[in-house]
Amino acid sequence: MKNILVTGGAGFIGSNFVKYVLKNYDWNIVNYDKLTYAGNLENLSDVEKNQRYKFVKGDICDEKKVEFTVSENDVDTIVNFAAESHVDRSILGSREFVITNIVGTQVLLDVFKNNNLEKFLQVSTDEVYGSLPENQKELKFTENTPLNTSSPYSASKASADLLCNSYFHTHKLPVLITRCSNNYGPYQFPEKLIPLMLAKALNDENLPVYGDGKNIRDWLFVEDHCSGICTVLEKGKFGEVYNIGGNNEWFNIDIVKLILKLLGKPESLITFVKDRPGHDRRYAIDSSKIQNELGWKPANVFEDGISKTIKWYRENEQWWKKVMSGEYMKYYEQNYAHKIV
Ligand SMILES: NC(=O)c1ccc[n+]([C@@H]2O[C@H](COP(=O)([O-])OP(=O)(O)OC[C@H]3O[C@@H](n4cnc5c(N)ncnc54)[C@H](O)[C@@H]3O)[C@@H](O)[C@H]2O)c1
Repeated sequence: MKNILVTGGAGFIGSNFVKYVLKNYDWNIVNYDKLTYAGNLENLSDVEKNQRYKFVKGDICDEKKVEFTVSENDVDTIVNFAAESHVDRSILGSREFVITNIVGTQVLLDVFKNNNLEKFLQVSTDEVYGSLPENQKELKFTENTPLNTSSPYSASKASADLLCNSYFHTHKLPVLITRCSNNYGPYQFPEKLIPLMLAKALNDENLPVYGDGKNIRDWLFVEDHCSGICTVLEKGKFGEVYNIGGNNEWFNIDIVKLILKLLGKPESLITFVKDRPGHDRRYAIDSSKIQNELGWKPANVFEDGISKTIKWYRENEQWWKKVMSGEYMKYYEQNYAHKIV
């Protein structure tokens, strides 16, 4: 691998991945991103002058542009992060989820196939497995757990996984799939649980918690997700799925209480709100396959990861305030628009 096309590299995990790779590997990166509301080039301002990094504004559904970008940059590997990623938004309207997450993946797979590239890695999610019972702690998602999606978001991600699998079987393409649990860390858009609660608490506003707050999620620090993806890229077996998780289950309400405690804010800020329709009760990942077969393990225990995250949101108030006000959208116009042909 020399030249990687990272799609969706201006989002939360993608931007962390770009920095992780530039720091730890000698690979060149082309970040191909449509810059939807979730894409923020300010996340990458400290690497934009790096000789091994390049940004291209584009939609993964635009086959001609993907094709051109791949050939112009001699791309050999595609890592697909680009997606509509927020469950609540998929409940309000699922069209964009179907277009980007399914059609976009199909376009990337076709360009990959037509250019005989070396590796395709699809960044998927544990949400494709559906929900686990709360009272059977021993049950976790393995790579063999049947797909059983609940939201339009997870259905679109599962469809993309099936397409990847079909291109492996039918066209013998070198395809890999990772399915990760909930990520947290710097640069996460403040519509997701942890950054939303952090931003609200730092602003002394009410913290809205869905239902009874007893939904369980398995949390992984974003850098550990990035190291897991790199491990699969380097050592994964084509056609295989690898679960990535932190063995770190928390009730949502306990995460919220922990954030308040670490910020020194009162629990009276918590406000319970009407539950999300179809809200999965519990996710828990069994990541023994990637650990045993590929030798990956997370480097950050939750206490350290959450402390780093809280420190980052405290020190980067300007970043999330700009995101919440929509001002971040101007960054591309100011810094890139005149440079792009
Ligand atoms: N956040 C999590 O906890 C989590 C967990 C497991 C897997 N994932 C998966 O990881 C990937 C990244 O998640 P995230 O949280 O960073 O998402 P995000 O919403 O923060 O970022 C998505 C990025 O994709 C870009 N994008 C959207 N549509 C595009 C299109 N049509 N063409 C090109 N770019 C487009 C956006 O501009 C944005 O930069 C997603 O595929 C998601 O399903 C996320």
